[in-house]
Parts: sequence; C-alpha cells; structure tokens
Amino acid sequence: MASSHITWHNGAVTVEDREKMLAQRGCVVWLTGLSGSGKSTLAVEVEKQLTLAQHLAYRLDGDNVRHGLNGDLGFGPQDRTENIRRIGEVSKLFADCGVIILTSFISPYRADRDLARALCPDRFIEIYVECSLEECEKRDPKGLYKKARAGEIAEFTGISAPYEAPEHPELVVRTDTSDVETCARTIVEYLRARQFVV
Ligand code: ADX
Repeated sequence: MASSHITWHNGAVTVEDREKMLAQRGCVVWLTGLSGSGKSTLAVEVEKQLTLAQHLAYRLDGDNVRHGLNGDLGFGPQDRTENIRRIGEVSKLFADCGVIILTSFISPYRADRDLARALCPDRFIEIYVECSLEECEKRDPKGLYKKARAGEIAEFTGISAPYEAPEHPELVVRTDTSDVETCARTIVEYLRARQFVV
C-alpha cells in the first residue's frame, strides 16, 4: 500500500441502520464465466426481478466499467487482476451501503475472485455462469471469438488466455441448458433463502 499516515474515521450510522431502512441485506452477487456465457444478460434480469420486488440492486458490468473507472486497464494478467481488485473494493463499498450488487466480469483467475471474497466473506455470493466454450463461441454476440481465432485479439479468455472455473461457488447456473429467466429466478430464490431479501 502506497498510502501512509492515514487513520480510519468511523461514522455514526451503521450498515445495519441502512439495511433496516432498505429492508434488505447488502451483498455482492459475483457472476463469473466466459465471455458470451450470459453474465451481463443474467445480471440485467436479476436486477429487474429484484427491482420489481422493491429491492435496491445495482449492476457493475465488465464492458461498462472498462468505459470509465477501469478504462486504463487491458487484458494481460496484471491488468485483469487490478480490474477485479478495484471491482472487489467498489462492490464492498456498495454492500456496505446495503445495496445488492451484481457484478458481471469474466474474472478468470481464482485467486483474484478469492481476494474479492475476502473483502466481505459473509456477504459474497460467487455464481458460476456455466456455458461451454463451444456454445459461447457459437453465440459470439460481439464477434470477438472469431477475431480471437483469427489472431486479431491477443490473450482472449478461453482461446489464448486461461479461465479458472470456481471450485466451490455458492451457486452454478447453466445458461446453455436453462433460459435466462429461470437462471435469474434461481439466483433471487437463493438470496431469499439466505435472507438477503425477504
Ligand atoms: S476480466 O477478465 O478482466 O474480468 P472483463 O469482464 O472486465 O474481463 O471484460 C471482458 C469483456 O471485454 C468481454 O466480454 C469482451 O467484450 C471484452 N474483451 C476484449 N478483449 C478481451 C480479451 N482479450 N479477453 C476477454 N475479453 C475481452
């Protein structure tokens, strides 16, 4: 850490105060999976279902965040690690606000996801958005797999860069065999079962 001579300053309002106001518990719903696996689509649907049920949810999306906060980062291993570190920290802040945060980042490295988890272990829900590489490549919604195969994009996850699937995720949803609404409902039901929402 580069900062020194810094002191933590406590507030007079706790996360529990905010959660009482919101009638929910803040948490980080961390979606991980290959590009094209459906993370962003799923996050949109979960956000919609939670909002319809009067819960405060907010998405942090890989492609979107790379337009702003993380626009200075590329796709080499170090930059991906920094990408996930920042998102882990931002997610923790949101969870501390009492918000249900939905992140959709490939987050290919297990160690990076574990660091994000360690920031708020009781509120971290890792969800593996499972979809075969074959199916992701068939979907190729942004035409990136085609470019990666043609050698036009370096270090593309699943083709020329690794993806480390979670070993003990809280939940696995399969977008190649279930539709997005069903997967989203599974996630919302899980949040109910854990009493993040009632
Ligand atoms: S992560 O690996 O650092 O977690 P992130 O989720 O932020 O990735 O961004 C992934 C998105 O960036 C993909 O959905 C795709 O649209 C785009 N992208 C561009 N280049 C690459 C690449 N080399 N590997 C993976 N995704 C890429």
